[in-house]
Amino acid sequence: MSDIYNIIDKQKLDIVNKPISEANGLPNECYTSKEYTLIERKKLFEDKWIVIGVASSLPNIGDARPIDLLGMPILIVRTKNNQIKVFHNICSHRGVKLVREPGKIKNVIRCSYHSWSYNLDGELIATPHIGGMDIHQSPDFEKSKSNLKEIRSYIWLDLIMININNNEISFENYIKPLSERWEQFWPIKDRDLIYHADDYGYFKLDAKCNWKFAIENYCESYHLPWVHPGLNSYSKLEDHYHIQGLPNRFAGQGTVVYNPRFKGSKKFPCFPNWPKDKENIAEYVALFPNVMLGIHKDHYYAYWLEPINHEYTLEHMEIYYVGDEAANSKKFKSLREQNHKQWEDIQKEDVDIIQGMQIGRNSPAYNGGNFSPKMDNPTHHFHKWVATNIVQ
Ligand code: FES
Ligand SMILES: [Fe+2]
Repeated sequence: MSDIYNIIDKQKLDIVNKPISEANGLPNECYTSKEYTLIERKKLFEDKWIVIGVASSLPNIGDARPIDLLGMPILIVRTKNNQIKVFHNICSHRGVKLVREPGKIKNVIRCSYHSWSYNLDGELIATPHIGGMDIHQSPDFEKSKSNLKEIRSYIWLDLIMININNNEISFENYIKPLSERWEQFWPIKDRDLIYHADDYGYFKLDAKCNWKFAIENYCESYHLPWVHPGLNSYSKLEDHYHIQGLPNRFAGQGTVVYNPRFKGSKKFPCFPNWPKDKENIAEYVALFPNVMLGIHKDHYYAYWLEPINHEYTLEHMEIYYVGDEAANSKKFKSLREQNHKQWEDIQKEDVDIIQGMQIGRNSPAYNGGNFSPKMDNPTHHFHKWVATNIVQ
């Protein structure tokens, strides 16, 4: 892998870390270079805690989902013990990708090439003809050394978090600053109450742009009046405040007037310990690198990114309510539908903008741009996270 400074001038990265009024944003190469993206995959995706899906999308034993993250094949499985495990999705023999489509594994994960088979815990249990015709063992081959390679994982708020290179601090410690921040309105004891909605609980958007644009756009409310006139009609730019987590791992914004206007008199149930005097607060936080969270008194969402390559990203929205009834009963169906539509419309408005940012990055005249010293602080926070971690 080449050195980052063969691709990007050191000065350009240093300038990102300057005080906001003197800083430029990340240079164009961070959005347009395939070679840079390989370094990014290692430093920002393999070395960090990242999101690769949600546990509720694998509800049953044997459920399996492959995901290719910036080309890296990964497999999520629900094991016989009802646990989520994550593996590198490659056969130990000649390296074929094992599971190609999401689905249910009946008995074993069987490689399509020479039929080596693994159980749901990733143990290699069958190696047909390995010792010659009709001899399925070999004294020279120790099966247990060729199990699937498991990836360190942790489930938090239904999110499947992984740390591929097993080098980060524990996830419990990693998430502490954000978790403690939310204790004041969304105490930990209420967080088990989230239920993924089966209908109107998910949508996926295609973004023809680099994954970072989704995060940096999510960090700021500056664009609200122009990009989201509907949202801005009840939650205005001046009702928002900045969030910048320390140590630098998350950033975003909050509003003090969360007050959606849905048709009908019904209201979703709220988290029982969300304080009455903070009912209208909602927070929108990007946990770097690839998930955007939204918390409200009556629902939670996780909007996670699946970067396919440096200029193409899939965005997955997962929506949760307080208790099974709110998430799945007929009684709240119309509200769920309206809420789903609201978020999908808003996120589409953002995708349109961030795709324009990708095109802009092909201009030699653009140097990463400037930040508003008052409005863009959380976005600058994210740029600093990238500029710092990419060289560490
Ligand atoms: S590559 Fe999988 S069994 Fe040979
Ligand atoms: Fe937006």
